[in-house]
Amino acid sequence: IKGPYDHFMQKEIYEQPETTENVMRGRVDASTNRVVLGGLENWLTELRRARRIIMVASQTSYNSCVAARPIYEELMEIPINVESASDFIDRDCCIFRNDVCIFVSQSGETADTIHALKYCINNGAVTIGVVNSSGSSISRLTDCGVYLNAGPEKGVASTKSYTSQYVALVMIALCLSEDSVSRIERRKEIIQALTLIPNQIKEVLELEPSIIKLCENELEKQETVFFFGRGFQFASALEGASKMKEISYVYSEGILTDDLKRGALSVVDNVLPIIVFATKDAILPKVVSSVEQIMARKGNLIIICNKGDKTWKQKKQPRNIVTLEVPQTVDCLQGLLNVIPLQLISYWLAVKKGIGVDFSRDPAM
Ligand code: F6R
Repeated sequence: IKGPYDHFMQKEIYEQPETTENVMRGRVDASTNRVVLGGLENWLTELRRARRIIMVASQTSYNSCVAARPIYEELMEIPINVESASDFIDRDCCIFRNDVCIFVSQSGETADTIHALKYCINNGAVTIGVVNSSGSSISRLTDCGVYLNAGPEKGVASTKSYTSQYVALVMIALCLSEDSVSRIERRKEIIQALTLIPNQIKEVLELEPSIIKLCENELEKQETVFFFGRGFQFASALEGASKMKEISYVYSEGILTDDLKRGALSVVDNVLPIIVFATKDAILPKVVSSVEQIMARKGNLIIICNKGDKTWKQKKQPRNIVTLEVPQTVDCLQGLLNVIPLQLISYWLAVKKGIGVDFSRDPAM
């Protein structure tokens, strides 16, 4: 079943051109610039009337919500909350009848997420499921939903589900904001860019040989790795750090780039690998300025940037900055491409360390 791959995780990473295509199939129409989601059709009036959207999920699924949040805020112009399911159920959150709650889960069976869903149902909210496993508890309990159609995820690490959840959440935002005249051009730009994503993921996968080298030369002996991202890329930093801990057993943190100045800078030295997301968007200049502070401390930088970005090669540094170049897409989708090198890094690091990547020593996974 693994075909030419050694592990399910590697196979599932390589399935992403196809799985991102599958989640859009019959839903994203680039000729009319529309997104039609059959699973939401009967609830569109209630959904478009929402006063607030709350996304609830666990771990990687939570990270996909963080990735999608900024585009919801921009397109829908209502408050958007993202909640980790276990924290959500620890609090007595205020949920109202005009709230729309989106539950995101690969398995559709995560106990905390189901618990949170039942709480929202009892409080009268309209609920949407974004689930991979058809017929699962979350898909049955929610009012309406969008299936990921990503096929079974056998490796313990969620990889293809993350990118499919991300695409599904963006599609929901595009569908719910269809009435907004002021957003027509922005929506068109995103819809056109979505159709290019599967092929762009293929391009990113070609980085594998450089990633193997990076693992051998820079990362294999390391006990800690930091990921820095901000704006659309904060979710990429969180997801990179989760994969690193879960699969490669390397202590890792995903940090808001701007929080560098609030403590993290003090641990920067010329050993600790720091992976920074510096792909092109409106806040790239701020990222560049943070990177310069890391450089001033001779930090061990690995930069994820767009193809052809000469910024980093031109920087005068005592040691070369390693760059991983990914194709450019629209800002709110860039995380779909940026996350692929992280999946490959955590996979190859685990393989080099002899870890059984398709299993985990974390019993909750
Ligand atoms: C991470 C991973 C898990 C899940 C989490 C939620 O790679 O696989 O941490 O993200 O258990 O699972 P679902 O998405 O099934 O609700």
